[in-house]
Amino acid sequence: MKNTATRTMIVTTALPYANGNIHLGHILEAIEADIWVNFQKMRGNTCYFIAGSDAHGTPIMIQAEKQGLSPEAFIDKTARVQLTDIQGFGISFDNFHSTHSSENEALVCEIYQRLEKAGAIIRKTIYQAYDPVKNMFLPDRYVKGTCPRCNSLDQYSDNCEVCGATYDASELIDPKSVLSGTTPETRATEHLFFDLPQYADKLKHWLSGPHVAKEIQNKMQEWFDAGLQTWDISRDAPYFGFNIPGEKDKYFYVWLDAPIGYMASFKHFCQEHPEVDFDSFWKEDSPNELYHFIGKDIVYFHTLFWPAVLMASENRLPTEVFTHGFVTINGEKMSKSRGTFITARQYLDTLNPEYLRYYYAAKLNGSIDDIDLNFKDFMQRVNSDLVGKIINIAARTASFIDKFFEHQLAAQLMNKPLWELFTDKQSEIATHYETRDYARVLREVTALADKANEWIAEKKPWQMAKEQGGSEDLKEVATLALNLFRVLIIYLKPVLPQLALSVENFLQIEPLQWSNLNTPLLDHTIKPFTPLMIRIEESQIAEWLQAK
Ligand code: MSP
Ligand code: ZN
Repeated sequence: MKNTATRTMIVTTALPYANGNIHLGHILEAIEADIWVNFQKMRGNTCYFIAGSDAHGTPIMIQAEKQGLSPEAFIDKTARVQLTDIQGFGISFDNFHSTHSSENEALVCEIYQRLEKAGAIIRKTIYQAYDPVKNMFLPDRYVKGTCPRCNSLDQYSDNCEVCGATYDASELIDPKSVLSGTTPETRATEHLFFDLPQYADKLKHWLSGPHVAKEIQNKMQEWFDAGLQTWDISRDAPYFGFNIPGEKDKYFYVWLDAPIGYMASFKHFCQEHPEVDFDSFWKEDSPNELYHFIGKDIVYFHTLFWPAVLMASENRLPTEVFTHGFVTINGEKMSKSRGTFITARQYLDTLNPEYLRYYYAAKLNGSIDDIDLNFKDFMQRVNSDLVGKIINIAARTASFIDKFFEHQLAAQLMNKPLWELFTDKQSEIATHYETRDYARVLREVTALADKANEWIAEKKPWQMAKEQGGSEDLKEVATLALNLFRVLIIYLKPVLPQLALSVENFLQIEPLQWSNLNTPLLDHTIKPFTPLMIRIEESQIAEWLQAK
């Protein structure tokens, strides 16, 4: 079966800040998007998986300084480690770039000029905390003091983590700069603002379309009801970012240039692939598609600011923004102090990344609900479903082909209806992938695996072998079992690309495509079976816990 029309699309994951480690929360997003991309590619669609690191802002500047590095040297170092960690989970980015790049600077300046021309930039004087020792304005989180409500020490300038109160920075008792310990002054400074309210009607119209999930639409409605505010897009020197053209000592706020970083990463990709045309992709009437995978904490930036900036600069809008929830560990928020913070590296040092891909897939259903990584459940699903049911189909039948039939599969399917039962699921499973309901994909696959195992148990090939040796019947039983297994591996390939590769090698076949579901593998020579995946030992998880 051919796809009627193939699609061309860009898929992105949020650009992690280039400070701090990649952790299992970032990995959830990378895996969710990677599965979707693999699925699209298997269907024959053209899909560019675009990512990068978010290099600008005060925290990165300060951290570089603490390490005695220039911000450039610091972000280079961290981004390299981040990419290695993410790729350790088999994430197949087509390009990974940085927001601190010449491509991004050029795009940011061009877009800013379009915003100015559209009358979307406003100037306002604001009053901000200033550190007279460090000679810099202080973002909110760099001022701490005593809570005006409960008198707890060491609280942020806008909210108290002890009593939960929110208040105005001017109310904070005994405020101090986190950087120098001095009492900040309040100073006036002129900032540039993006006139978001100008785009309120257009945004409402856009958001009423199929571009975000229903639950996000509701959230947006609350924000519209509260009224949109102009958005401060400038920061004063010293700041690590891009200079605003025509301004002295003013820089673009990191969140202005970060999403433009998606475009810049794609631009960099196009430069290396001249056959891909950047401009046609971003035209307002482009027939191509654009999808952003993000976490629920950055919805505002991706469904208000970013589309409004695209509108104002006459670029295309996202086709859809896909939002996921947050990873919790054994029911608790990931946190360093509670010991529930697991870095990507700690995981990779102890376990096969495909276990986590399988587990996350089993939990992801396209909603913004949080995803709990429960160690017991994790072990149980990998061991009993993936290894015990799915892999087992091949493990218990391949040896007969090796032993009696010189690695040769039979020439026909002995139970066509059973084969069809498996392949008839393809459009339903494809729909579940498309809607990011990977949990349902895996439920369907596991149910089919149960059917295959029941059938094998009825046929008892081990008994056939004992009683009749290498009979034609035995050959056909094993052949059908391996064909059912192959169907399940096609269904699972977006989730488990490494397992699929091992199976392709074992079956001696070309990389599996979705269209392979329509033809069984018959009269074909395969390789001797070797274990494809092993169970998780409890001791490995224990090791993993100690790694904290
Ligand atoms: N730099 C910004 C994104 C800019 S995109 C133009 C940022 N970086 S981040 O490193 O804080 O987060 C990157 C992505 O990881 C976000 O989509 C965020 O929601 C996601 N996650 C961070 N912690 C997470 C969990 N604990 N669980 C799931 N996803 C989480 O935001
Ligand atoms: Zn308080």
